[in-house]
Amino acid sequence: MSIIVTGAAGFIGSNFVLNWLNNNNEKVIALDKLTYAGNLENLKSVENNPNYAFAQGDIGDSTLLAKLFQEHQPRAIVNFAAESHVDRSIHGPDDFMQTNIIGTYRLLEEVRSFFNTLSDDAKTQFRFLHVSTDEVYGTLSASDPAFKETNQYEPNSPYSASKAASDHLVRAWHHTYGLPVLTTNCSNNYGPYHFPEKLIPLCILKALQGQDLPIYGDGQQIRDWLYVVDHCKGIATVLEKGAIGETYNIGGWNEKANLDVVHTLCDLLDELQPREDGKSYKDQITFVKDRPGHDRRYAIDATKISNELGWKPEETFETGIRKTVQWYLDNQDWVANVQSGEYQHWLNKNYS
Ligand code: NAD
Ligand code: DAU
Repeated sequence: MSIIVTGAAGFIGSNFVLNWLNNNNEKVIALDKLTYAGNLENLKSVENNPNYAFAQGDIGDSTLLAKLFQEHQPRAIVNFAAESHVDRSIHGPDDFMQTNIIGTYRLLEEVRSFFNTLSDDAKTQFRFLHVSTDEVYGTLSASDPAFKETNQYEPNSPYSASKAASDHLVRAWHHTYGLPVLTTNCSNNYGPYHFPEKLIPLCILKALQGQDLPIYGDGQQIRDWLYVVDHCKGIATVLEKGAIGETYNIGGWNEKANLDVVHTLCDLLDELQPREDGKSYKDQITFVKDRPGHDRRYAIDATKISNELGWKPEETFETGIRKTVQWYLDNQDWVANVQSGEYQHWLNKNYS
């Protein structure tokens, strides 16, 4: 038995593979294009594990997918592969349309061809799990109830629109072709191996490097934060027990305003690695121009996955964020390697 995990060298994909190999005796084939966000160093600790194999490639490459499916006869595909950064989607939406929409379409088509070759028994076992985001539901006002699976799709950024399109394709391939799909829509993740273009790792690294901590607009935008390992466990739970064709929202019940998140990061750094001048890292906070079309609030109602499948987050924001800050302090080599030329180019482009 084996599973194929796409986007496996990215932030959540690599955490999923590491967690899977820790908890299951089942082979994982990690597929990743290795874009700027893909990093094989994330998977270094398992590279000699006999249950692990890596293939470099694009989810839009039908020939490669057909070969992989034939060779490994997976019983499940977990699809993390995507362009994932909202700001990059605003600067240049093309890659988002290509991977998130066309790539998902090609992947679904190859999965369908493979599925049709399976025995009735293997068909009953097979699953295609698509990892999506809460951003497809749009934005909430302060008093709106949290997103439920039944909320209307109202994506506002090129990124969320492309993810919404991919969710619709997955739904249609189930409805029309009977593909046994599962979809998860998760809130903001944080934790180890998070690429430092995203708020939390960006601010940890900028703080330590004595740079400004850029807060978009008034910093009162709200996100619902989930520790990445809890997300990975949620996905494994949906894969094991989820009802075919269903969608499950996954969230941390941890709504925080961005400014509060950055204050927490500064407090932790003040405690764990104080500035040499004795001042607080909060002095580095700087308010900058807002993100165009910036969604004000996301919040996930994770009642369905909790009631139907028994999943709940294990970390609170306080425990998860402390582990995260400590991880970045302990993994300065990883940080140094990630901060490549392309990464610097992005910082100049986005923050200039
Ligand atoms: P990431 O950007 O860190 O990783 C994406 C990975 O996909 C990278 O390793 C990249 O190389 C790979 N990839 C990109 N295009 C590819 C292609 N065409 N073929 C094969 N591989 C390709 O993203 P992440 O934060 O780990 O997010 C993973 C998934 O989870 C995405 O689908 C994202 O939409 C979703 N998601 C993310 C969050 C979050 O907070 N990060 C929350 C909810 C959902
Ligand atoms: O909600 C789930 C989504 O969370 C995922 O689908 C996306 O893949 C993931 O990137 C994340 O999207 P966000 O846009 O919410 O994450 P980001 O870390 O980019 O930003 C978090 C908040 O912080 C957001 O309100 C924008 C703000 N921000 C971000 C950056 C990079 C700043 O204020 N300053 C910054 O420099």
